[in-house]
Amino acid sequence: MPVDILVGTQWGDEGKGKLIDVLTRDVDMVVRFQGGNNAGHTVEIGDKHYVLHLVPSGIFRENVVNVIGNGLVVDVLGLVEEMKGIAAAGFSVDNVMLSSRAQLIFEYHKRADALREASAGSRKIGTTRRGIGPAYADKMNRTGIRGIDLTCPERLEEQFRREAEKYNKLFSEYGIAQLDIDAEWERVREAAEYLRGHVCDTVYAVNAAIKAGKKILCEGAQAALLDIDHGTYPFVTSSNTVSGGACTGAGIAPQKIRDVWGVIKAYTTRVGEGPFPTELFDECGEKLRQIGHEFGATTGRPRRCGWFDAVAGRYACMVDGVNKLAVTKLDVLDDLDRIGICVAYEINGRTTSEFPASIEELAAAKPVLEWLPGWKQDTSRATRWEDLPENAQNYLKRIAGLVDSTIAIVSVGPRRDQTFLV
Ligand code: GDP
Ligand code: IMO
Ligand code: MG
Repeated sequence: MPVDILVGTQWGDEGKGKLIDVLTRDVDMVVRFQGGNNAGHTVEIGDKHYVLHLVPSGIFRENVVNVIGNGLVVDVLGLVEEMKGIAAAGFSVDNVMLSSRAQLIFEYHKRADALREASAGSRKIGTTRRGIGPAYADKMNRTGIRGIDLTCPERLEEQFRREAEKYNKLFSEYGIAQLDIDAEWERVREAAEYLRGHVCDTVYAVNAAIKAGKKILCEGAQAALLDIDHGTYPFVTSSNTVSGGACTGAGIAPQKIRDVWGVIKAYTTRVGEGPFPTELFDECGEKLRQIGHEFGATTGRPRRCGWFDAVAGRYACMVDGVNKLAVTKLDVLDDLDRIGICVAYEINGRTTSEFPASIEELAAAKPVLEWLPGWKQDTSRATRWEDLPENAQNYLKRIAGLVDSTIAIVSVGPRRDQTFLV
């Protein structure tokens, strides 16, 4: 059985967690392949609300194996806290596998992240301060510590102390608090003990599952416009968030991939710094934020809100190879008289429908808006395409046409049952 990938196509928080939870109804294995606990994936089941950061969103389904793949940077203490929280809520975490090849995040990475942000001035990224950038930098510098090291306490201690001392030198240069290495090691040692039984060679596990005909779904975190190569560099995260990242980040060969689900919000949001051409600074933006509850699932920061950006969306769907679009949060637009869609950018007097590589050009881009009439009806109870008002159908068709893909799922609320296949 081939593998499907689900990725975000905007600046994150499109509703990936919800869709993974819905799609895992008939999936055997969910695999995260990049990022870390900068992600915040919300799953609502009945009146319960869960936010996942590192554990894949298949965790609420019995019999689903949840893999934290080799491409992640894993906050050791954060993962233990998250798994204990899930277990306390009554779900088994026995089915969580942690890749022996995944990189590990420690307290010093978080401090280095905060330090970089504090000293970056106008180049501040607005990171989640989870240590993502420094941990991936260590990976590329070949000084990182990996999942496999959790299984050997002596080696782990030696590596941890060496790296912590190196970072402490940096902290002292900048005059910020040094890490109490002995106390931190004690916490790491305990966490490693908890995680040891979950560490395995997930690359073999995933490929064995493929060979055995199991259904596998790869869960993207962040989204295309935050991709280190394809996003709004330098205002991006430090991993390959696009679908191609699943091949390297999970150890899956390209010919095993079948469908790419692209999750796309019916409007646009962004947390953190960086250009956002369709951002709304008026009461309409505020309305989207309030009705859509657009506050970060990881940091609680208010999300910046704006109209749907088809230029960015088309670029993302092209790079991701999205053949199945899942449009979320349509219900948030229910009350609007008219809805804007950005169909092109005007940059320094030139009109283009291509997403620019230059951050200065993107910052100068003025959206060319097309207006569609609203539907002024409640869509949150729709259970099939035919239930949607005609104007909502037209809006969705226009989005799909502009990003050159096909709508396969529409989501009209946070719950599992507020989702239908098209
Ligand atoms: P993710 O990071 O892509 O998993 O998305 P987040 O969980 O960070 O943010 C999506 C938010 O929207 C969560 O609070 C979800 O519960 C909620 N949500 C998901 N789909 C819908 C939808 O169709 N309508 C509404 N109103 N909320 C939704
Ligand atoms: P999910 O998976 C939205 C943003 C941060 C910042 C930039 C870099 O829930 O969609 P980082 O901490 O990764 O170095 O921050 O990326 N960012 C996200 N924005 N959703 C996310 O994840 C994000 N993960 C990181 O706000 O702008
Ligand atoms: Mg999120």
